[in-house]
Amino acid sequence: MKYNFEINLTQNPKPKPDPDTLKFGKTFTDHMFVMEYTADKGWHDGKIVPYGPITLEPSSSVLHYAQTAFEGMKAYRTADGRHLLFRPYMNAARVNKTNDRMCMPEMDEELFVEAVKALVEVDKDWIPTKSGTSLYIRPFMFANETFIGVAPAEIFKFIIICSPVGPYYDTPGGGLLAASIYVEEELVRAVVGGTGFAKVGGNYAGSMKAQKRAKQHGCEQVLWLDAIEHSYVEEIGTSNAFFMIGDEVITAPLLGTILPGVTRASVIELLQKWGIKISERRLRIEDVVQASKDGSLKEIFATGTAAVISPVGKLQYRGAQITIGDGGIGALTQKLYDTLYGLQTGSVPDDMGWTMEF
Ligand code: COI
Repeated sequence: MKYNFEINLTQNPKPKPDPDTLKFGKTFTDHMFVMEYTADKGWHDGKIVPYGPITLEPSSSVLHYAQTAFEGMKAYRTADGRHLLFRPYMNAARVNKTNDRMCMPEMDEELFVEAVKALVEVDKDWIPTKSGTSLYIRPFMFANETFIGVAPAEIFKFIIICSPVGPYYDTPGGGLLAASIYVEEELVRAVVGGTGFAKVGGNYAGSMKAQKRAKQHGCEQVLWLDAIEHSYVEEIGTSNAFFMIGDEVITAPLLGTILPGVTRASVIELLQKWGIKISERRLRIEDVVQASKDGSLKEIFATGTAAVISPVGKLQYRGAQITIGDGGIGALTQKLYDTLYGLQTGSVPDDMGWTMEF
């Protein structure tokens, strides 16, 4: 251990939630990790304290100009009682890419991972074990300078909180359910040169109107198209998107508008290992429509930390319904979910070296 953190345990532990009724992101564990940054001291004073409110001055810069970033990770308890994180160094590396774009201070990857490990170790009894559940970890940092001029701050706060979660999408029994997706042709999520590749709250704030529209059209999520031609498929909701056409699986390339998802990277590596053709290339929505007409559109699925793998059953495009395959869960989608979730929870042997015991 390169870093040592002070630990101040709660005197009032909370009751654990019922695993059968766990929702995503509504319950929080007993502790949180907090750390400060100042230009002269760098990141310092990392400690674990009881989970609770924080105070901010109304002039705190993050409340005005959103200089902030977050990550999403999960911890699992295996059937034989081990505790696992999934590829935490990928999140640590992404933090620094996000922070560079947002003019926020770099963080040693080791410091990030050790902070996550120290907190989940303290709150490990909160890791639920029921199928489809996990401990969601939310590291985030924000500018906390008492200044309302527009300039990069020099004072930041880093916090990690944890939430025992059920499935991201509320499905009966917590299993996979093929979602309906609304193809959004007017509102856009990201442009090249913007912040689409970074994990920043503003991307999500700007997405909510389209999410609302999708719901008004009877769909669960939105399929984003590129911002210039409104033609190339990009992401689905808060997740990366994959399309299986014929024998090829296609996902949008990382050209600045796509979040470099840890699950996305893992799916690409698994498909390569299985000898399935996977292309990171641009794909027009019209080609997806054409493929559905000629019968070559086999599967669509979304990937992300929160939902792992989410099948898509239908697309709604210009008022028409496009059914993907038989409208249910594709065979490859199911295999990817079973493999990834199995690796994450330790029921599938980790021959990829992706899990980290803590
Ligand atoms: C994820 O799937 O990791 C996400 O980022 C979704 C989150 C915003 C809830």
